[in-house]
Amino acid sequence: MADTFDLTVIGTGPGGYVCAIRAAQLGMKVAVVEKWPSFGGTCLNIGCIPSKALLHASEMFEEAGHTFPQLGIEVGAPKLNLPAMMAHKDDTVASNTGGIEYLFKKNKITAFKGTGKIAAQGKVTVTAEDGSATEIETKNIVIATGSVSANLPGIEIDEEKIVTSTGALKLDKVPDNLLVIGAGVIGLELGSVWARLGAKVTVVEFLDRILPGMDLDVAKQFQRMLSKQGFDFKLGTKVTGIEKTESGLVATLEPTAGGEATTLETDIALVSIGRIPFTDGLGLDDLGIERDKRGRVVTNGHYKTNLDGIYAIGDVIAGPMLAHKAEDEGIAIAEILAGQAGHVNYSVIPGVVYTNPEVASVGKTEEDLKAEGIAYKAAKFPFTANGRAKAMLAPQGFVKILADKETDRVLGCHIVGKGAGEMIHEAAVLMEFGGSSEDLARTCHAHPTMSEAVREAALGLGDGSIHI
Ligand code: FAD
Ligand code: NAI
Repeated sequence: MADTFDLTVIGTGPGGYVCAIRAAQLGMKVAVVEKWPSFGGTCLNIGCIPSKALLHASEMFEEAGHTFPQLGIEVGAPKLNLPAMMAHKDDTVASNTGGIEYLFKKNKITAFKGTGKIAAQGKVTVTAEDGSATEIETKNIVIATGSVSANLPGIEIDEEKIVTSTGALKLDKVPDNLLVIGAGVIGLELGSVWARLGAKVTVVEFLDRILPGMDLDVAKQFQRMLSKQGFDFKLGTKVTGIEKTESGLVATLEPTAGGEATTLETDIALVSIGRIPFTDGLGLDDLGIERDKRGRVVTNGHYKTNLDGIYAIGDVIAGPMLAHKAEDEGIAIAEILAGQAGHVNYSVIPGVVYTNPEVASVGKTEEDLKAEGIAYKAAKFPFTANGRAKAMLAPQGFVKILADKETDRVLGCHIVGKGAGEMIHEAAVLMEFGGSSEDLARTCHAHPTMSEAVREAALGLGDGSIHI
């Protein structure tokens, strides 16, 4: 029997590890349980971090080939060393996961390696890989067990030819052809990586648009940009089967609305049709812990499940499956358990697609506002009219701001452009403080910066942008 803890967190992804650290900072005696060899969950091991390492490296590769000559830099055609690029990705992951180990030690958090099962309220059993079990006594339990890739019925993932994001992050050669199933964030990010390195990418999407949930204006323009980069989109189409052949794969495609089936040959197929909550082995059914139709653990406004002392956060509960959403919930529940007023503002959670250019969004889309019957005004400012963008050969995209027609309060901001994922935060901070487009327009912005386009869009909601 191990010590008694104030809090035991099951899972050390961004939700779990951040929750554990904040709880320890607030004076709790904390344990974490992790079944994987390294800490950090999906995000650090097989998600955000390795994908961004490859996105950065492949973007540099592409720039060396296409942008350098325009800048007067002649280095010849770049040569790909894929094992070295993968080593950069692996080093980045190791350095980040090692960082969590350090932070656990620094905050005196006890880490148990093994699969956690909630034996009862206040009791967690950890089963290590060698089968040995440890019982933990704990006042509170936070479930932070995350999510796994969803699969298509009848299609068997082997992580070599038919892959999820996990396999797509470690291909040992650049495929000639890559079929991406699902035009969501994973498909477009990892499709970009392999397209930049030389693959012909075909994206099959069930709906008649890419990036559902993002502002439609943004999604349409972004689709045109990706098409220029060589992506082939088959919208309103579904994959109904994939057959393995000697030379590769043959996928069967059908129009979503019904119609004749066609086939498509490919080397690799990436299944990126969403992720589903992961609760296997936790013993939730035995305890009667409620889950919704989509398998998500049901929680109240304070992350409590239907059982006292058992809470859940991150991808395993409702809401966007994003690392920063999980982190913020981790902090909120730690604060709630410490008797404070932990809270997450779900209306200001930015979303970023880390492609080139990036797509970033916070708050309401134009479609949301129309559906909710909110009277709004919209303004756009293109990066073609921004001096810094021209100097950086990055004139693609725009900033779009949506504000309440009556009060001028900013309700949403959507950016397609280089560095959009950094720029979006000025809109996020503004919105967190209930700011107006006039507040943004009156804030002095350094020149020359890409962020001036954000201000110019805000000016467009008032007396007019200066540079268009
Ligand atoms: P997870 O990170 O999934 O962690 C859950 C942890 O629980 C895992 O370590 C697992 O081993 C452990 N676990 C599960 N069951 C048990 C058990 N019974 N006992 C012990 N341990 C257990 N989000 C972003 O915001 N930005 C991005 O750029 C981004 N990129 C992504 C790229 C990819 C390819 C993928 C797949 C996802 C990406 N995401 C991104 C999403 C992000 O990774 C998730 O939203 C985030 O990791 C969720 O955090 P979590 O703590 O809820 O769960
Ligand atoms: P997603 O939900 O973003 O996109 C899935 C896409 O697949 C949708 O466009 C959907 O319409 C389509 N689809 C569903 N079924 C289909 C079918 N049978 N045939 C064809 N298309 C189909 O899911 P994705 O890309 O798998 O990512 C999972 C989660 O991971 C997302 O919730 C996302 O938030 C998170 N993530 C976040 C990243 C970021 O923040 N940059 C990066 C990668 C993942």
